[in-house]
Amino acid sequence: MQGIFKGLWQRIAAFRAIFRPELAAFVACLAMAGVAIGASSLLGPDSVRAEGSPVRPVQGHSGVASCAGSTCHGRSVADGTVVRQDELLRWQEESSPTGAHSRAWRVVLEPRGQAILRRLGLDGAGAQRECAGCHASPGAARVADGVDCEACHGASSGWLATHYTVGASHSRNVAQGMTDLVKPQVKAQVCLDCHYSGDAMGQFIAHRIMAAGHPRISFELDLFTTLQAHHDEDADYVQRKGGKSNAMRMWAVGQAEAVKRSLELFSQPARAVDGIFPEFSFYDCHSCHRRIYDGDAGANVTAVPNPGRPLDPGTPPYNDENMIMLLAAAKVVAPDAAAAFDARAKAFHRAMLVGRGETVAAAQALRQSADALSSRFAGSSFSREQTFAIMDSIASDAIGERFTDYEGAVQSVMAVDTLLGGMVNQGMVSASSAAALRVQINQAYAAVRDPNGFQPIAFRRALGGAVRSIRSLR
Ligand code: HEC
Ligand code: HEC
Ligand code: HEC
Ligand code: HEC
Repeated sequence: MQGIFKGLWQRIAAFRAIFRPELAAFVACLAMAGVAIGASSLLGPDSVRAEGSPVRPVQGHSGVASCAGSTCHGRSVADGTVVRQDELLRWQEESSPTGAHSRAWRVVLEPRGQAILRRLGLDGAGAQRECAGCHASPGAARVADGVDCEACHGASSGWLATHYTVGASHSRNVAQGMTDLVKPQVKAQVCLDCHYSGDAMGQFIAHRIMAAGHPRISFELDLFTTLQAHHDEDADYVQRKGGKSNAMRMWAVGQAEAVKRSLELFSQPARAVDGIFPEFSFYDCHSCHRRIYDGDAGANVTAVPNPGRPLDPGTPPYNDENMIMLLAAAKVVAPDAAAAFDARAKAFHRAMLVGRGETVAAAQALRQSADALSSRFAGSSFSREQTFAIMDSIASDAIGERFTDYEGAVQSVMAVDTLLGGMVNQGMVSASSAAALRVQINQAYAAVRDPNGFQPIAFRRALGGAVRSIRSLR
């Protein structure tokens, strides 16, 4: 392994073994061969120009061809003096997660995408309406380029001509309209538009779409940033951007922003209600998708009580995966605010039993707490001690008894993986001692391998084992 991928393959391989099993073997293979992910099976430049029908052109979007020049971001080797300049190639790398965005529209046209469209009764125009907001770049003239550079970096008309010239600086580029992805809050909001849901057309992943065969969405800001990275955090980056990125901060801010996003969308009647039904995608999937046993005297009730969600049996609980992580982080980094956040979260869950008005009011209060925590995290440095304490907090009894559902459990494994990786990156823990703990972390991943067979108690044991072994590094 070399360059930016040093040490990352383990995280990538572990994540993909769970969520993309069909590609995990590939990653493991590369890792063993010591090959940098992203160096094989390149697409020709023509793929960038594949035809696609026009959608919602937005002013200022130049399109990927404008970034692709061989003296710009289209080099075949990463030998740029400031940035790598092979970003296009990496974005096009089909077989790795860094290339997922370039194929985002194509997957809609492939059999799984077509089957989803068919079940929803959507034609081409319907696909543009329901899918293009996430599977293409909002603002691009064509959908065929998938999620292009400007989907994340911002429409470029204001800065395209000047961002590489003498005198360019990150702050000047940002002033001219480039998205400031260095800021964790800004980046989280960009990613969440598609990796949770957004407000724009075609950016809402309703239960209808999942029930038609769409994969469920799972996101963690730092892990996904790592998976799609196409930049080096070298001396030059540190100088231009004021330091290396901080994975712990990114994780914590990502959790707070996800809570905010979820509550914002839920507060809009058009999003939260579908006919006489609530929009099911806001709730924990397995609370409804459970088995029923007609056994002896109701002995086979499988739901486990959850003190974080004081609800009656049989009421679908709001998906609180990010709220649990946010509470675990707040207890360490903002202890004075943690109890209030927890109280507001409980009040929000409980309000569901009363009425929509009450629930939306409780959602607003909870959103405010999450917003305040997001800002505090964005200004915190996350010391070694704090990071260890957050992992302990995640595995503590008080937090552990909230992992009654699959989604929260998955978040906690990604969190532990991310926090450990972050400490390695910051030089707080050596890469070799972290690598030695891989077995335990992979056991925690294995405990969330089968969503339908999820067992809260066994899961807690696996997570506790991983965190205990990490604690030995303290
Ligand atoms: C809110 C954004 C959003 C919307 C709306 C959306 N998708 Fe997706 N879709 C995603 C994301 C994100 C993934 C990748 C999930 C992952 O790997 O984490 C995905 C994955 C997929 C996949 C699997 C791709 C693969 O590589 O296996 C298909 C197929 C798909 N979407 C089709 C559709 C279709 C068809 C529609 C419209 C009916 C649609 N999507 C609407 C965000 C969205
Ligand atoms: C899914 C979102 C996304 C897409 C799509 C994307 N990028 Fe990026 N890019 C990022 C993020 C996040 C960073 C890291 C920014 C940072 O830390 O300053 C980055 C970093 C970069 C950097 C290095 C910046 C620096 O200061 O070192 C360049 C250059 C770049 N991207 C160019 C491109 C090009 C060209 C494309 C299209 C071929 C592209 N990106 C597509 C999100 C994206
Ligand atoms: C405009 C919508 C959009 C935005 C913005 C976006 N993504 Fe994505 N992303 C997608 C879609 C759609 C897919 C799935 C494509 C596929 O399966 O080929 C995806 C896939 C990915 C994958 C691959 C996941 C896997 O399972 O292999 C990663 C990693 C990822 N995105 C990270 C990010 C990050 C980090 C950001 C923010 C900096 C971001 N994305 C912003 C739409 C988006
Ligand atoms: C409030 C209850 C409820 C919640 C919560 C819920 N679902 Fe569903 N789901 C249903 C119902 C009802 C159906 C339709 C069953 C039928 O067609 O027989 C369904 C159908 C489905 C199907 C199609 C299953 C099939 O075999 O046809 C999938 C897939 C699905 N849901 C995924 C999810 C995911 C993913 C989540 C979480 C994000 C979720 N559901 C949350 C009630 C729920």
